Amino acid sequence: MPALPRIDQDNLPAHIAIIMDGNGRWANRRGLMRLMGHKVGVDSVKVIVEAARKLGIRVLTLYAFSTENWRRPEAEVSGLMDLLRTFLLRELPSMMEHSIRLRVIGQAQRLPEGPRRVLEKVIAETSANTGLVLNLALSYGARDEILRATARLARRCMAGELAPEDIDEAALAGELDTAGLPDPDLLIRTGGEYRLSNFLLWQASYAELYITETPWPEFRKRELYLAIQTYQQRQRRFGRTGDQLAAS
Ligand code: FPP
Repeated sequence: MPALPRIDQDNLPAHIAIIMDGNGRWANRRGLMRLMGHKVGVDSVKVIVEAARKLGIRVLTLYAFSTENWRRPEAEVSGLMDLLRTFLLRELPSMMEHSIRLRVIGQAQRLPEGPRRVLEKVIAETSANTGLVLNLALSYGARDEILRATARLARRCMAGELAPEDIDEAALAGELDTAGLPDPDLLIRTGGEYRLSNFLLWQASYAELYITETPWPEFRKRELYLAIQTYQQRQRRFGRTGDQLAAS
């Protein structure tokens, strides 16, 4: 087996966010049902969570179900919900063993009762864990998240707790579902589409983008290492010039 791409342990992204795309096409190409693509995609989830944990990544956000995904055929939606429920139940012991904390962004209350209950249980049981934060985006849409945050700010203003002129980036960020988490440094999209698809629109403002043709069911440890290696070769300037960075 060829060696894994080399990674600099001192320059790891603190937060990696992934748009896990290409499951359906991967399955179709093999003459399989789309759901088989999602099923093998769950194996990728397991591999990537473990690899990220071992590397020392602090936060891993996975786009598992978007607000738009509710429009998919009922059988695919319920199949995905079932995969989520069984994944969480199966992985809870390993999450406890490795101190992984589960978080969720999006309107998880819209999920059917079965997966919702399991989600609540795993979030509660892992809440004191201090290792990798596994942040699942479920029934998530960035515009929806920003609207909900904006409404909360408006309510705080109406209640006299906040003045409109005091609304700054920190105030808005503090009302987003990701409050308390660092912004993603690296945003990966598998499946070769060049879109953000309503994912972390506020938080990904300065994220390095890495798009690969590899469909999610084939995205494993080597692919993750390659994405991180590519990230480490980029120069993050945050609006400054390269000369300014070299001088600092
Ligand atoms: C996009 O592929 C993927 C999804 C909509 C769901 C991703 C979900 C999983 C990998 C499994 C459940 C998640 C967890 C965390 C257990 P697509 O169906 O849009 O692919 P296509 O673009 O090829 O049609």
